[in-house]
Amino acid sequence: MPLTCQKHLFSLDETVHYLNCSYMSPLLRSVETAGLEGVAAKRNPFRIPPDGFFSGAARLKPLFAQLVNTQPDRIALIPSVAYGMGIVARNLKASRGGQIVAIHEDFPSNVYPWRRVAEEKGLHIRTVAPPEGTDGRGEKWNQAILEAISPGTAMVALPHVHWADGTRFDLEAVGKRAKEVGAILVVDGTQSVGALLIDVQQCRIDALVCGGYKWLMGPYSLGVAYLGEYFDNGIPLEESWMNRQGSEDFRRLVEYEPGYRLGAARYDVGEHSNFILLPMLTAALEQILEWKPASIQAYCRQLTAPLIHYLLERGYWVEDSGWRGEHLLGLRLPAGADMATLQEMLAQRQVLVSVRGDSVRVSPHLYNDERDIQALLEVLEAFGKGRG
Ligand SMILES: Cc1ncc(COP(=O)(O)O)c(C=O)c1O
Repeated sequence: MPLTCQKHLFSLDETVHYLNCSYMSPLLRSVETAGLEGVAAKRNPFRIPPDGFFSGAARLKPLFAQLVNTQPDRIALIPSVAYGMGIVARNLKASRGGQIVAIHEDFPSNVYPWRRVAEEKGLHIRTVAPPEGTDGRGEKWNQAILEAISPGTAMVALPHVHWADGTRFDLEAVGKRAKEVGAILVVDGTQSVGALLIDVQQCRIDALVCGGYKWLMGPYSLGVAYLGEYFDNGIPLEESWMNRQGSEDFRRLVEYEPGYRLGAARYDVGEHSNFILLPMLTAALEQILEWKPASIQAYCRQLTAPLIHYLLERGYWVEDSGWRGEHLLGLRLPAGADMATLQEMLAQRQVLVSVRGDSVRVSPHLYNDERDIQALLEVLEAFGKGRG
């Protein structure tokens, strides 16, 4: 059964057309309740038992593992994408002169860590730009990435969809090519995971790092990372007592333990048992798994079909259907159109989208319906008329 609009599960302001999940998702009511319960729990701290420091992560990790097709012990809790990429940077094995393949105008959390590590280890960053012009852009860009991966490549770092223009990268092809040359594949899933299916095994991903507050629909300041075997004996960014073996036994904490927990758990951020944020992200993941990313894509595809049709007729650019996700559309305006005027008209009509670079980013979800798309279409129509 295709999904219908799920707005009733949110508390979104009725007066706005919120087409901006790539900025931040609104709160599901179930997520809000979980957070409030977490706040209330500390009224009586004696009700938080020692195993409560570990049980929240034990509930959350299998859910995210299921979402990306791996095992729970491959998952680490992180406070931000920058932190997750910091783990990767710290543990990157590359010799001087090696290469990092990255993409043009990626989000800074998937750029700055590599600049630092490149400087420290004497590596070269090969940033792959999209082709000139719009004809076959997504396909050609993907091809250029594959061609840039060479025997000297130590790591390929990219997102699943570009955060500003929505171009989708073929992770399966990139993963295959990366493995042929012995490189690791590192993916920022913040603008896709939750709404777009991903399989870390099929794509041969070594690290998948996701902020939690957009398409995972969780709170701010808690994200999740998949870390493959490459990282099993690595060095975490901090030495949290919680990540050592046997730390559940509070009587033995000063029998200092040299061994980390197995798998990715050595990388869990300090105080990751956060009694407010963890239950919130857990509730969000439960809902997403119930909905399923494929159904979210199908809903967004159907919802935005009239918009895409309109845009293509009126000279806007949007990435080709085979090379985009359905949940994040980056629109480029027709030649000569004034972005500031459009922004003002959108704001006046309470149509909430983002402008990133020269792209208007429209990112719907299950709480949107035809009225939201209609409102956007009406603004675009008035904008077009205003331009004559
Ligand atoms: C693609 C992408 N990655 C990461 C982030 C957030 O990064 P961080 O968690 O380091 O603040 C954003 C925020 O907009 C994003 O769009």
